[in-house]
Amino acid sequence: MPANKKLLILPGDGIGPEVMREVRRVIDWMDRRRMVSFDLSEDLVGGASIDQRGTPVTEETMAKAKEADAILFGAVGGPRWEKLGFAMRPELAILRLRKELDLFANLRPATVLDPLVDASTLKPEVVRGLDIMIVRESTGGLYFGEPRGVETLPGGQKRGFDTESYTTSEIERVGRVAFDLARRRKNRVTSVEKANVMQSGLFWRQTMTALHQREYEDVELSHMYADNCAMQLVRNPRQFDVIVTSNVFGDLLSDLASMLTGSLGMLPSATLGAVQSDGRRHALYEPIHGSAPDIAGKGLANPLAEILSFAMLLRYSFSMEEDAALIERACTNVLASGLRTADIMAPGTAKVGTSVMGESILRELDKLAA
Ligand code: NAD
Ligand code: IPM
Ligand code: MN
Repeated sequence: MPANKKLLILPGDGIGPEVMREVRRVIDWMDRRRMVSFDLSEDLVGGASIDQRGTPVTEETMAKAKEADAILFGAVGGPRWEKLGFAMRPELAILRLRKELDLFANLRPATVLDPLVDASTLKPEVVRGLDIMIVRESTGGLYFGEPRGVETLPGGQKRGFDTESYTTSEIERVGRVAFDLARRRKNRVTSVEKANVMQSGLFWRQTMTALHQREYEDVELSHMYADNCAMQLVRNPRQFDVIVTSNVFGDLLSDLASMLTGSLGMLPSATLGAVQSDGRRHALYEPIHGSAPDIAGKGLANPLAEILSFAMLLRYSFSMEEDAALIERACTNVLASGLRTADIMAPGTAKVGTSVMGESILRELDKLAA
């Protein structure tokens, strides 16, 4: 049995705790089977932390996150906290974690599982077998660029502004992650920006081209404008293998890609930092969806994105490929058996809530491991 692994669980708000509960059951299942024993701790983030501690994430929680081998995150935010203002947003919790742990590479795989081919709003023949990886830069760009703010102009009008900015090394390090992933996939990278409009976009394209020539000539690189990429993802998504793009474009394109797979409730993600000199690497795993205030508290949320994020955690942080694949197979089999949460319902399938979906995955794990 592998040694204890320090795992920090941050459920957050809305459906975050609801889907995390189902992951906890999977972890308990693994623990019972003595496949692995985690050194688990759980903490507050987002609105839950604002309510109890007056801040979206405390220094103590940040310190725990820095010590953890891996972090599993739920979701933060909701209408209750919107009136608190920009400096007290629950979303600051995830932004601070990404920034301060230098988690610059956000891997967002969009795969269409066979049983869900009909759940997408797109035609089955367009999405069947889809397997793309969006690599979203996640510590720079518009999300963190300076200057930013709201100022009052001489005539009394106001002006709100943010800055898109990328340095050579910020582009190169995320570019390398994309090229390295592509080498283990179909060997194709599409770099996405708006080099036709944005100075930083043109610089991104030039930097990716130079990196490709210097280190990755064996990988096929193409460039695409972000608006065209959005269109192409809907027109013919299977043309893509790995997409690498900025923070803000990656945010938009990954939500778009989630609907190719059937639902926002299906897409997991991994956000990785650089490998450090001691071999450790900070890593945070989270579904790409938010706290879904419209369905929170109703037991309707799809727990699969969170469970699949946990599978990614096993694969990327602990090299537990077999266990990751086992969990993924259990999810696929349960879908193939015809169970669906409301977001992926299709005619002829049975609608279940969050906890029945979780339970069914445990039962399937029992079968697979028997
Ligand atoms: P959202 O992702 O929370 O929800 C969008 C839609 O998708 C909703 O209709 C919701 O019901 C549905 N949905 C999302 N996840 C689902 C799931 N697992 N199962 C079934 N349906 C699901 O996005 P939003 O409504 O724009 O944002 C709500 C709040 O979440 C905001 O405060 C936002 O800032 C925050 N947010 C947080 C994160 C994060 O913590 N990483 C990510 C995105 C949004
Ligand atoms: C995501 C979310 C976050 C983002 C928010 C909650 C800050 O939308 O993880 O995709 O914009 O990065
Ligand atoms: Mn998003």
